[in-house]
Amino acid sequence: MDDIVKEIIMLKQEKDAVILAHNYQIPAIQDIADFVGDSLELAKKAREVDSSIVAFCGVRFMAETAKILNPDRKVLLPAFNAGCPLADMAKIDDVLEMKKRYPDAYVVSYINTSAEVKSVTDVCCTSSNAATVIRNVPAETVIFLPDKNLGYFVQKAKPEKKLILWDGYCYVHRMFTLEDLKKAREKYPAAEILVHPECNPEVQDNADFVLSTSGMLKRAHASEAKTFIIGTEEGLIHRLKKENPDKEFFSLGASRVCFNMKKTTLELLRDCLKNETNEITLPQDIMEKARNSVEAMIRYI
Ligand code: 13P
Ligand code: SF4
Repeated sequence: MDDIVKEIIMLKQEKDAVILAHNYQIPAIQDIADFVGDSLELAKKAREVDSSIVAFCGVRFMAETAKILNPDRKVLLPAFNAGCPLADMAKIDDVLEMKKRYPDAYVVSYINTSAEVKSVTDVCCTSSNAATVIRNVPAETVIFLPDKNLGYFVQKAKPEKKLILWDGYCYVHRMFTLEDLKKAREKYPAAEILVHPECNPEVQDNADFVLSTSGMLKRAHASEAKTFIIGTEEGLIHRLKKENPDKEFFSLGASRVCFNMKKTTLELLRDCLKNETNEITLPQDIMEKARNSVEAMIRYI
């Protein structure tokens, strides 16, 4: 075992810390984490942690969600500048403006939003539960933000609701094209094509399944297929291969990388555990209002 891995394991015990990591983290981080998951699984896990420290290997909105749900823990974000460009596409003032324009609408925010935006949201959702949340909101009109492709997916699944879509997108998922998909079908006719709902509509419409990252893991375990084409950030492929050694996984077209997810390194994780630095702090009032929208999501599903 590498010295740095040993050091992190010792620090974890000494500091009473738990390491949570998203499915897109580099393999070394996924392998050392206590729990690896998608946004919903990580939020639920963070809520029940009773260790003193949560080291969150992911991007800022995920660490903020952990803090919102479990405010008595010290939540550390090893790569302190790891943001999510999609989350940055919704600013609180613009959301308030939109609310004024549609006073009867419910605001449903993807969990990929800042704590501030969550504080003016009625209910949050993740890629794995967006359609269920929308079905259950007690309003016909919904302001859905910030990802328009996830919005497309939900609108298709729930045509009875009127969704007002935000003009946001994930630059990583937007890179997968219909051309990539056609080529993959030709090359691997027996493969299942699994894509994330942040992909463009034409990619979603021509895939076999549109799933969250953990939804893809579940499908890969359950399916009879031996080959899978994966339309999401390349980090997930490490976990898919590790958990399904008898199956093959290929990226849809070229591997696509979320640079912010890749900022977390073993060195940064070690340093932030050692010095208890990079702590997530949020204003009390924002945290309380944001908690209502995240807890509402957990009640709705
Ligand atoms: P998941 O919740 O499906 O893991 O997605 C998170 C994300 O950031 C996708 O880009
Ligand atoms: Fe944000 Fe896209 Fe990276 Fe997910 S993959 S964290 S949505 S930029």
